[in-house]
Amino acid sequence: MPKRFLITAALPYANGPLHLGHLAGAYLPADNYVRYLRLHGHEVAFVCGSDEHGAAITLKARKEGASPQAIVDTYHQINGQAFRDFGISFDIFHRTTDPLHVQTASDFFLELHKKGVFQLQESQQFYDESAGIFLADRYIKGTCPVCGHTEAYGDQCEKCGSSLNPNDLKDPVSVLSGATPVKKATKHWFLPMEAYQDWIRAWIETGSYDGMEPPVQAHDPAAWKSHVKGQCLSWLNEGLRPRAMTRDLDWGVPVPLPDAEGKVLYVWLDAPIGYISATKAWAETQGKDWKDFWCSSDSTLVHFIGKDNIVFHCIIFPMLLRAHGGFVLPENVPANEFLNLEGAKISTSRNHAVWLHEYLEEFPQKRDELRYVLTSIAPETGDSEFTWADFQTRVNSELVGILGNLVHRVLVLHHKYFEGITDRPLSCGHTPTKQAVEAMYDDLQQHMEAHKQRQALQAVMQLARHGNRYLTEMEPWKLWKTDPVATREVLEDMLYLLAHLSCGLQVFLPDTASKLQAMLGLAGPIPWDRELVWEKGHALQTPEILFQKIEDEAMEAQRAKLTSRTTAHAPNSKNMESKPKVEIQEAKSEIQFPDFAAMDIRVATILEAEKVPKADKLLKLLVDTGLDKRVVVSGIAEHFQAEDLPGQRVCVLVNLAPRKLRGIESQGMILMAETPEGKLRFVAPDGEVENGSVVA
Ligand code: MF3
Ligand code: ZN
Repeated sequence: MPKRFLITAALPYANGPLHLGHLAGAYLPADNYVRYLRLHGHEVAFVCGSDEHGAAITLKARKEGASPQAIVDTYHQINGQAFRDFGISFDIFHRTTDPLHVQTASDFFLELHKKGVFQLQESQQFYDESAGIFLADRYIKGTCPVCGHTEAYGDQCEKCGSSLNPNDLKDPVSVLSGATPVKKATKHWFLPMEAYQDWIRAWIETGSYDGMEPPVQAHDPAAWKSHVKGQCLSWLNEGLRPRAMTRDLDWGVPVPLPDAEGKVLYVWLDAPIGYISATKAWAETQGKDWKDFWCSSDSTLVHFIGKDNIVFHCIIFPMLLRAHGGFVLPENVPANEFLNLEGAKISTSRNHAVWLHEYLEEFPQKRDELRYVLTSIAPETGDSEFTWADFQTRVNSELVGILGNLVHRVLVLHHKYFEGITDRPLSCGHTPTKQAVEAMYDDLQQHMEAHKQRQALQAVMQLARHGNRYLTEMEPWKLWKTDPVATREVLEDMLYLLAHLSCGLQVFLPDTASKLQAMLGLAGPIPWDRELVWEKGHALQTPEILFQKIEDEAMEAQRAKLTSRTTAHAPNSKNMESKPKVEIQEAKSEIQFPDFAAMDIRVATILEAEKVPKADKLLKLLVDTGLDKRVVVSGIAEHFQAEDLPGQRVCVLVNLAPRKLRGIESQGMILMAETPEGKLRFVAPDGEVENGSVVA
């Protein structure tokens, strides 16, 4: 049954360009999810826009000697372009300086005011006497009380990520003049958050609350990620305090009340309302009613954000929506954690980042490669890390070696033997192939709906792996000499597999999916439909290469660029020298060839991984050894997250006598190497090798 969805992605600040972390954290998962929903025929509004108000913008403008409007115009354009370039399929990329938004935010505030939601309070705020203005949190720097970083901002420490209050800072100074700010009285409209904490807690913990009214629908609290709930509960446990919803600033949505000269709406009140105004602006162009998405029980709202935005989307905005009344609340907020880069936090100020526009300049036409790698390593349940070495390996061994290779072999052979004209309607005669296709649809669906996109992507790759294995087993290039009829069957079963594979790929890799569909002579997009058809005599198109290998030099260049830009602050250059060296183990005594040959080591792929209960070090792995699928218990739980492992290529000693570990029979051993820091690394082939290949 088609449903209606409202999907939002965090409004990026229009004060700088976007980097890989933004894409991996919010925009790519949102886009994958939306593509998945659209394939099912759901009605979707996918909205985003630039967050153009707030002190981050005015600060940047001061630094550059430009007007705030000039800054936001520039970055609204650049960021909108980056999203288009990466295929992020927003229905609208709106902006908070748009008059429609200013009106919407102003009305929203006024409605809350009329309902008596706010408390007008006088408070002491930092004030810069030489500049003659109240200092927004971002305009105050000082020493972080948590980590001691001396350049922490009044609202957040960029080093340790703690969210702060300017009063928390030690030795605060004004960013504008360097002077020590003084406290001065000013009045603001406060949201008494403590008054709402009970229902918010109930809503987060149980999915509903007393007095819940339509259009709000209960959600399944078990579907929320535990780090999201955990962050909310830790805020609630600390006790919520009143928070000012207005600021002394000359840039933003003016407070629509008398006696509010020089005051604007707090950017975290203003920006999320941007989701509403974006929906309005889009609905207008579509002849739709925005209220069907925001104010109707049959609409499902999902916010995609990074973890630094959790409290705003799970606590503050829901409070505002309910206080206003008539709005839905999010069904889920599947926030991602952070993506680190080459061993350090991504940092705009240190220029330790890979900027999206730069990536595309250097790797033109390779957006699917980045989408693939970022989804594969998405920081879904913990911080994760992007390295160029890993990027290269994933592109070369997975996209080139598995996906590209399969497509190429099937199409080239079919053209060679049968001129690319099929002999039967699109169908499958080989049961295991059909089952593998069914499994892809089932797994992909299950994992997408659980917001486990890494696993969802693996479900698609599993199907490609399955195809490669089948080809290797059937060897159509040899079979052809003795049995052309059987050869055709094998290849046309694989065409069936590729057609369905292209459907799954549409969720993650839009360019690749449409290239593959073009080669298959299918008109995309293909809906989520297990009954794809073509008639006998269908013509395939000329195969083209889907992915090119990434060369070492290109990766060297990227690493060199990162270090040259950030050398001034190279995070680890000191530590490197004093790095603890692992003792090189003494050489073992000589053996004879038969001792070596007795070991049966095979290339394999981890299919599933789970923690062994009550054993800190053990993971129970299901591995495909090419011979069979078997369980191996491995002592690597302190080094890897179970959910990161499906899809990992490994080498397994398969003829080691089985051993019982914690009651589980372990059938073999995974080969590992140790880094100088004592971390473990898998030993795996550096290019495409089938599971079951002998390591000798
Ligand atoms: N601009 C904020 C950031 O980049 C996100 C705003 S999300 C919204 O962290 F809800 F306010 F729109
Ligand atoms: Zn800190």
